Amino acid sequence: SEGMLWGGRFTGGIDPLMHQYNASISYDSRLFKEDILGSIAFARANAKSGIISNDDFVEIERGLHEVLKEWEGGHFVIKSNDEDIHTANERRLGEIIGKNIAGKLHTGRSRNEQVVCDMRMWLRERIREIDSQLVALVKVITGRAESEIDYLMPGYTHLQRAQPIRFSQWLMSFGFAFMNDVERLRECLKRVNKSPLGCGALAGNVFNIDREMMAKELGFDDILWNSMNAVSDRDFVTEFLQWGSLFMQHISRWAEDLIIYSTQEFGFIYIADAYSTGSSLMPQKHNPDGLELLRGKAGRAFGHMSGFMMTQKGLPSTYNKDLQESWEPMLDHVKTISDSIQIANGILSTLTIRPERMLAALDPFMLATDVAERLTKLGVPFRETHHIAGRCVAKSEELGIPMNELTLEQLKAIDSRFPDDIKEIFKYESSVEAKSARGGTSRSSILEQIKVLRAMLG
Ligand code: ARG
Repeated sequence: SEGMLWGGRFTGGIDPLMHQYNASISYDSRLFKEDILGSIAFARANAKSGIISNDDFVEIERGLHEVLKEWEGGHFVIKSNDEDIHTANERRLGEIIGKNIAGKLHTGRSRNEQVVCDMRMWLRERIREIDSQLVALVKVITGRAESEIDYLMPGYTHLQRAQPIRFSQWLMSFGFAFMNDVERLRECLKRVNKSPLGCGALAGNVFNIDREMMAKELGFDDILWNSMNAVSDRDFVTEFLQWGSLFMQHISRWAEDLIIYSTQEFGFIYIADAYSTGSSLMPQKHNPDGLELLRGKAGRAFGHMSGFMMTQKGLPSTYNKDLQESWEPMLDHVKTISDSIQIANGILSTLTIRPERMLAALDPFMLATDVAERLTKLGVPFRETHHIAGRCVAKSEELGIPMNELTLEQLKAIDSRFPDDIKEIFKYESSVEAKSARGGTSRSSILEQIKVLRAMLG
C-alpha cells in the first residue's frame, strides 16, 4: 500500500489481483479532462475561501494544465499504483509542482464527490451528442416520409395483412417514438447536470466552499442539495440506462420490421450493401446484419440496465465501492446507443424501397372494412355492416374469386342496400385517403404529422 494516496494507515502489501480488481483506471482514465477541470474549479474555490493561498492555486492550476497537456499529447504515463483517474492526476501533479503544494489540491475534498462530478460532466456531453444524433435520424424519417408519400403498402396487425397504409405512415410511427425519446433524454439531462462538488465524503464541506461558483465554472445547472444524496446517487446513470433501454427497444422493433420487409418473401425494401454482409458459403446471400445488430444490441442494453439496478439494490447509504460498477455499463451504453443511432441513420438514408412489391402485397380482403364502412355511411349500424362485409369475404372465398371481382348483382344478393357505386371502394388509394382524421394514413393527415413532428424538432 506504500505509494497509494490513502496508504497512511496501511502496513501490509496488497494482493496484486486485488489491486487490479479494485482499480478503475483502465476505463475511467478517458475522463482525464473532466477530472482536471473539476480539480481546477475546486482549487479555485478553496483559494476563494482562503484555505489555500492564491499562489498555491496558481501553481496547482499551472500544474494541472501540464497534466492535461500530457494526456492530450498521449504521453501521460499511467503508473502501477494509479488506482483511478483521480489518484493518477494528483500523483502526476505532485511530480510536476512538488508534493508540498500538490498535497493541498485535495483539501476538503473526497473522491466520492469527485468521481460523480467527472461522470456527470462526461455523461452530460454524451447526452448532448446523442440528442443531436437522434434529431438527425428523425429528420431523415420526416424527409423520406415526405418524398415517398405516394407509396402504398399493407399495414399489419398480428403480422397478418390488415389495412392498406402509406409507407410514410409506417416511417412516421417511428418518427414519433424517437421524438418522444428525444424529449425523455432532455428530461434525463436535467437530473444529470447537477454538481456534487463541495459535498465531501458524505457529510459536507468544512471550509465553507462556494459550491455555486464551482457549479457555474463547470457548466452545471444547479447543485445537488444534500451531501449524502450527492455522493450516493447513481440514479443519473440508472436513468440514462433506462432511457437507452427504451430507445433500444424502439430501434429493435424498427429493425425487425425492416428485416421482415427485406426478405425475399416480402421484398418491400432493399438494404444498401454498406449495411449488409454476404455469406462465406452461400454466394446469393445479402444479409441484413446491420439491422440484426440493432435488434441484438437491445439485449445488451437491457442487461446493463437491469444489472446495474441489481448492483444498487440494498446498498447501504452513501459511497460503497459497488458504485464503481456504474462505470462500465454507462460507458458501454453510450457507445452502443450512439453507434446504433448512426447505423440506423445510415441504413434508412440508403435503403431503397420497391413500391411495386408493396402494391403487389395488397389484397382486396384488406378492403373488407371499407365495404362495411360504405354501408355504415348509408346509416346501417356498424355491427350489422361488419357482418355483411364478412359474408362478402365468405362469398369470395367460396367462389374462389377476389372480393373486388364479385359482381354488383352478387353483392346486392348479399345485401340489397349496397349502393350502385359500391365497387368504387375497391381502390387502395381511396381506402387510405378515407383515413383523413388527424393521425391517419391519408396524404393530408401524414403531411400534417410531418409538420407537427418538425415543429417538435424546433
Ligand atoms: N474509482 C472510484 C469509483 O469509481 C472513485 C471513488 C473512490 N472512493 C472511495 N471512497 N474509494 O467509484
